[in-house]
Amino acid sequence: MARKLAVITGGASGIGEATARRFAADGFAVAIVDVNDANGAAVAKSLPEARYYACDVSDLDAVAATARRVETEMGVAHALVCSAGIIPNTESVMEMDLAAHKRMWDVNYNGTLYTIRQFARSMAEAKRGAIVTLGSINSRAPLPIPAYNMGKAVIERLTQLLAVELGRSGVRVNSVGPTYVMTPPLRAKVQAGQRDLAKIMSVHALDKLPEPSDIANAIAFLCSDQASAITGVLLPVDAGFLSAVSYRTYAGGVPWEL
Ligand SMILES: NC(=O)c1ccc[n+]([C@@H]2O[C@H](COP(=O)([O-])OP(=O)(O)OC[C@H]3O[C@@H](n4cnc5c(N)ncnc54)[C@H](O)[C@@H]3O)[C@@H](O)[C@H]2O)c1
Repeated sequence: MARKLAVITGGASGIGEATARRFAADGFAVAIVDVNDANGAAVAKSLPEARYYACDVSDLDAVAATARRVETEMGVAHALVCSAGIIPNTESVMEMDLAAHKRMWDVNYNGTLYTIRQFARSMAEAKRGAIVTLGSINSRAPLPIPAYNMGKAVIERLTQLLAVELGRSGVRVNSVGPTYVMTPPLRAKVQAGQRDLAKIMSVHALDKLPEPSDIANAIAFLCSDQASAITGVLLPVDAGFLSAVSYRTYAGGVPWEL
């Protein structure tokens, strides 16, 4: 029997790679859509039935051509995960580099929009499927990485709009909201002294950060039949960040050790 198909943008690294591995373990064929040719091809080769598609998700024509190729070669997606993205360093709105700001919107927001527009039409025609966008704790909290922060807030709203637009076609659309996950961009920032892991841990409820596989597990759940009544939600996978930040800063900091 033919396998179901999971299409995963950003599947060459980090959360997307972990998600590709999780879907493959669940018996899906996997299409990896990314710009990192070496990693993308290597991840695809390591899975039972997978192909790598080189595609910059910020380029609408390239996404459209990739969607056509994937559908011809592998079929219509049952699961679509938009994990392609870039993660910036801290900056202020007043001083930030506007070219980098634009690029961030082009990849993180427009890339998500273009991917869903190109792949979801066939899913809607097939009257089934599930889509997961990559939100973040940034979707819910103002954090000093402006283009990224605002883009993730808007991705949550896009997810809600699409959930309604596609709902009657049997396609569910949800988002996951990870806190800091130790993928190559965070590892590079910790190694460069731009992130302090002890300080990061001090603003979480749990004493461990999620692994990429923890995010993949949440994505797999949202795409599964167990989530058949869930659409339009953002599921935080945040080790309690959103609860702990406001709690721990109450009155300038709670007066006992936590
Ligand atoms: N790691 C975290 O702490 C964290 C937290 C919250 C949300 N997220 C989100 O998770 C997603 C994945 O992040 P990650 O940590 O796995 O990063 P990562 O760098 O490990 O993976 C991102 C992948 O996206 C690909 N990519 C980048 N630009 C692209 C483009 N224009 N077209 C196609 N592919 C492109 C990269 O090549 C890479 O393979 C992002 O949307 C990110 O915002 C990450």
